[in-house]
Amino acid sequence: MKYAGLVLAVASTAFGQSLIEVLGGRPELSQLTGLLNSSGLAGDLSSLTNNTLLAPNNAAIGAFLNSSTGAAVATDSALVQAILQYHVLQGNYSTVNATAFIPTLLVPPQYTNVTTGQVVQANATGSNVTFFSGLSSNSSVVNASIPFSGGTIHIINRFLTVPQNISTTGVALNLTSAVGAIGQLNLTQAVDYTPDLTVFLPNNAAFQRIGGNLANLTVEQLAGIFAYHIVNGTVLYSTDIQNGTSVETTGGNVTLTLQGSNVFVNNARVIRPNVLVANGVVHVIDRVLNPANTTATPNASTTEEAFPGATSASNEPFTSGVPTPTSAVPTTSAAGGSSSSSGGAWRPIETGAIGMVALFGGAAVVMNI
Ligand SMILES: *[C@@H]1O[C@H](CO)[C@@H](O)[C@H](O)[C@H]1NC(C)=O
Ligand SMILES: *[C@@H]1O[C@H](CO)[C@@H](O)[C@H](O)[C@H]1NC(C)=O
Ligand SMILES: *[C@@H]1O[C@H](CO)[C@@H](O)[C@H](O)[C@H]1NC(C)=O
Ligand SMILES: *[C@@H]1O[C@H](CO)[C@@H](O)[C@H](O)[C@H]1NC(C)=O
Ligand SMILES: *[C@@H]1O[C@H](CO)[C@@H](O)[C@H](O)[C@H]1NC(C)=O
Ligand SMILES: *[C@@H]1O[C@H](CO)[C@@H](O)[C@H](O)[C@H]1NC(C)=O
Ligand SMILES: *[C@@H]1O[C@H](CO)[C@@H](O)[C@H](O)[C@H]1NC(C)=O
Ligand SMILES: *[C@@H]1O[C@H](CO)[C@@H](O)[C@H](O)[C@H]1NC(C)=O
Ligand SMILES: *[C@@H]1O[C@H](CO)[C@@H](O)[C@H](O)[C@H]1NC(C)=O
Ligand SMILES: *[C@@H]1O[C@H](CO)[C@@H](O)[C@H](O)[C@H]1NC(C)=O
Ligand SMILES: *[C@@H]1O[C@H](CO)[C@@H](O)[C@H](O)[C@H]1NC(C)=O
Ligand SMILES: *[C@@H]1O[C@H](CO)[C@@H](O)[C@H](O)[C@H]1NC(C)=O
Repeated sequence: MKYAGLVLAVASTAFGQSLIEVLGGRPELSQLTGLLNSSGLAGDLSSLTNNTLLAPNNAAIGAFLNSSTGAAVATDSALVQAILQYHVLQGNYSTVNATAFIPTLLVPPQYTNVTTGQVVQANATGSNVTFFSGLSSNSSVVNASIPFSGGTIHIINRFLTVPQNISTTGVALNLTSAVGAIGQLNLTQAVDYTPDLTVFLPNNAAFQRIGGNLANLTVEQLAGIFAYHIVNGTVLYSTDIQNGTSVETTGGNVTLTLQGSNVFVNNARVIRPNVLVANGVVHVIDRVLNPANTTATPNASTTEEAFPGATSASNEPFTSGVPTPTSAVPTTSAAGGSSSSSGGAWRPIETGAIGMVALFGGAAVVMNI
């Protein structure tokens, strides 16, 4: 992954045809056009200026409408509107040639607590442009850079997934020790609903390797350790990270280090960067951070822990009572990739409970109330 700055072309030229005219001339977007018309949102979108529409093609819409949730939600124009807002980027990105985190028009707190607008991650590898959304779902651009009077359309092959809260995302990513610890500390509400968070979530193996130490801690000590994993009030994506930066968590400062393609938080390696969540971003790390050891430094070649006299536990700590993950999410071998490269392997929207939540996020919850 590249951590260089933004490399995007922001065009300002206005082209003649309106969005609806352009969509109407594209048979592969006929289902989107139909959805816009039937939900009464066509008018809203025609007022766009300086925007980028990620337009799901007929195959993407078909998969959406054929799911039971899709069929139910398609008749609720408020929900459809929120999902579509997430498909409209702030700014006219006529081309994308680097990694960037781009705010969308999805802003209402009912659907996101990223206060400047929930983002999508744009990523370009050669001519392959992919947008990552909630649960690291990926949507690839199949037809790029179609101009309309208010900006640019990129046609994508899969609906974007509205980012989920941290608890739901954590369970989907098999981070059940972290989710369990959050629950035992009564921090679930704060972690899920505080706006604009960056959270470093250790994987289960990281908790298990120091499980002996954790077992002896008081609740206050455990809370202090967890606080050291939360940046409250700043959403830090990988593109914001510079080598050697000191970042203030709620439990003290951590140091971010770049080594080759790896990013470290103190001595913990980021094994899955940039998981977009409803209220910010999660970076999955391979060690538990210790606020009493702020000088812990990267040392990829050892298994040294930041906790003195580390002893492991036979079970994964804190996991009792945490739901079993229902979605297989691939792991990455290095910080560079946040997703499986086999496009078909990872389709959280297609089946089961996670799929429904994945697509509609807070919306599905709202719908069930
Ligand atoms: C993003 O693109 C870069 C090349 O620009 C590539 O090295 C990296 O693996 C890509 N990341 C993801 C998550 O696909
Ligand atoms: C990305 O695109 C912009 C505008 O088209 C261009 O100026 C820039 O050189 C490109 N960067 C790379 C790395 O290709
Ligand atoms: C277009 O939107 C981008 C992103 O919000 C903003 O930076 C830029 O100033 C806008 N340009 C115009 C001409 O409004
Ligand atoms: C945003 O936070 C509010 C509480 O301030 C909460 O009611 C709402 O559900 C949150 N939104 C999401 C999408 O999590
Ligand atoms: C969490 O809440 C429960 C029930 O209110 C309480 O019994 C427990 O002591 C609380 N735990 C912490 C760590 O505050
Ligand atoms: C973040 O800070 C606010 C204000 O101090 C507080 O209400 C909230 O609980 C904090 N959230 C977390 C997750 O620490
Ligand atoms: C979750 O991770 C543990 C190891 O930490 C592994 O044993 C288990 O199979 C994983 N479960 C899923 C559903 O990936
Ligand atoms: C935890 O406490 C037990 C007994 O209370 C003790 O035997 C053990 O050495 C302690 N473990 C650590 C890592 O401090
Ligand atoms: C902690 O990080 C903040 C933000 O980068 C910085 O302003 C502050 O000086 C740091 N504090 C220490 C003790 O390093
Ligand atoms: C980051 O800084 C460390 C020293 O603190 C250095 O070893 C490392 O090579 C640097 N990484 C990059 C990518 O420059
Ligand atoms: C701090 O963490 C490092 C691992 O980076 C470890 O070598 C060292 O022993 C730890 N120091 C203390 C005081 O626990
Ligand atoms: C483009 O990248 C995405 C995400 O890495 C991948 O799933 C997809 O297969 C790639 N498409 C092509 C044509 O290489």
